[in-house]
Amino acid sequence: MRVLMTGGAGLVGNALTRLLLKNGARVFCVDNLSLGTRRHLAEFQNNSDFEFEELDVSVSSWHKKIQGRNFDLLAHLAANSDISLGNSRPEMDKSRTWDTTFEALMAAREMKIPKFIFSSSSAVYGANPVMPTPEASPNLHPVSIYGAGKLASEAFISAFVENYGLNAWIFRFGNVVGEKLTHGVIYDFIARLRKNSNELNVLGNGFQTKTYIDVEDCVSGIYLSLEKSPDGSRHQEKFQIFNLSTEGATSVRQIAEESCRALNLKTCKVNYQNSPIGWVGDVPKTSLDVSKIKRCGWRPRLDSNAAVLKAIQDYAAWSKGS
Ligand SMILES: NC(=O)c1ccc[n+]([C@@H]2O[C@H](COP(=O)([O-])OP(=O)(O)OC[C@H]3O[C@@H](n4cnc5c(N)ncnc54)[C@H](O)[C@@H]3O)[C@@H](O)[C@H]2O)c1
Repeated sequence: MRVLMTGGAGLVGNALTRLLLKNGARVFCVDNLSLGTRRHLAEFQNNSDFEFEELDVSVSSWHKKIQGRNFDLLAHLAANSDISLGNSRPEMDKSRTWDTTFEALMAAREMKIPKFIFSSSSAVYGANPVMPTPEASPNLHPVSIYGAGKLASEAFISAFVENYGLNAWIFRFGNVVGEKLTHGVIYDFIARLRKNSNELNVLGNGFQTKTYIDVEDCVSGIYLSLEKSPDGSRHQEKFQIFNLSTEGATSVRQIAEESCRALNLKTCKVNYQNSPIGWVGDVPKTSLDVSKIKRCGWRPRLDSNAAVLKAIQDYAAWSKGS
């Protein structure tokens, strides 16, 4: 399988690249390195099945720079993955989350790439009244600019499937965590604690409780669902949406305590605010119905708490001194 991957220098891109290469695929990654880093790609540099090009996927016709190559799959992972940033700078989600999707779809159409996978998010569900939230939820009311960029992306993917014969798999991830974080609560807490080891100021009351998934479990779910379909009707074959996370959830308070512990900060004071959310656009609780992806035979190795604990320890070690 020949794979073109956008956002390949990020957390999920790194793990998906490793899994694909291990299974005999050739992987061509593009990334503008706005959040991801070359250090995330260093492990692949001597692999002849791997190539990397620094490119901005939000720019029209970016794919002309790699014209003449053939791919079986376009994995579109590039986005502004920092949700709170979109609140203060909505143009970031316009260009990095929405424009990149449109331009990736145009690339798939013009390069005749038959299959497209997209990293969407539980953010498309907003503060959903039904939990665990199933894929078929009619309540798609994002509260973050990022979630809006993902939902708009999903709508265009659906239409490209109908209009241009593309096959598309959309994955609505919970919070994906692992060693090579580029953003998010663990990344943020470790950075803050390294600056000030005496106290940690948490955004919100700390009772925000969300579902977390280890990045290796996340990419194994993607890979498995490419092979095995839970059902087989014609339209379902062309267009699939999967929630992808664990069934459990972890609170911000647990993450704060474990982050202090990982850095061996026994006397650090953790301060909380009164608000149930950390910023406008934050969702206090997420829980996804993952029964559909489980019907493909997928099972996560780690539950939400174990994934968070592992990510805190691995990221603290990975980011030490950087
Ligand atoms: N990590 C999570 O918790 C989570 C949850 C839900 C959805 N997602 C989605 O999964 C995907 C991967 O997430 P991640 O955690 O690996 O994020 P990440 O930030 O580590 O990776 C995203 C990559 O996209 C790149 N990028 C951004 N704008 C670009 C552009 N214009 N052109 C080329 N590259 C660009 C960044 O440099 C980065 O390397 C993203 O689409 C994200 O929105 C992630």
